[in-house]
Amino acid sequence: MDTNRLSKKIEAILNRQVTKEAEAAQIYLSYGCWADGEGYGGVANFLFRHANEERNHMMKVMRYIMDRGGSVKIEAIKAPPSNPKNLQDCFEKTFKHEVDNSNSIYEIVNLANEEKDWATYNFAQWFVKEQIEEEKLVMDLLDKLKIAGGPKASNESLFNLDKELAEMPDEVPLAREATEDNPE
Ligand code: FEO
Repeated sequence: MDTNRLSKKIEAILNRQVTKEAEAAQIYLSYGCWADGEGYGGVANFLFRHANEERNHMMKVMRYIMDRGGSVKIEAIKAPPSNPKNLQDCFEKTFKHEVDNSNSIYEIVNLANEEKDWATYNFAQWFVKEQIEEEKLVMDLLDKLKIAGGPKASNESLFNLDKELAEMPDEVPLAREATEDNPE
């Protein structure tokens, strides 16, 4: 008896997401190594922590495929893109990557909606919310860099930014969770 509760197309798109999350982890690792080499130990630490988060995303999709009786296919992953030119470039590329990942999640949502696969639709909602956080996290980095002086930031302000990122929480508060008593 076939107990696979996923259609072939849903199984394929979820497997594609497994690969994408693994690739995201490699990108964060690679940028983290670059940042460390440039002397930005705090930024590197932040990016390395985030690489772990991407692997957790990968595990979450893998687990879902298995729980629904589907088959996980571990595929080869692309090499990360070349090193960024500077911190601004690093954060901008990271932001573009996150937007690309959000679009990939939306494709899962669209397909699940089309096929009326409400279990997958519901599962994907966690990632829809997570991507709001992921995008906001990088937007905050770009804002912090802008305040530090953007491309003309002094060494001192970059030093302070680097220190701040070493301790920055991995999660960001979202407006949708804000209340009158707790506006953050
Ligand atoms: Fe798994 Fe950064 O999204």
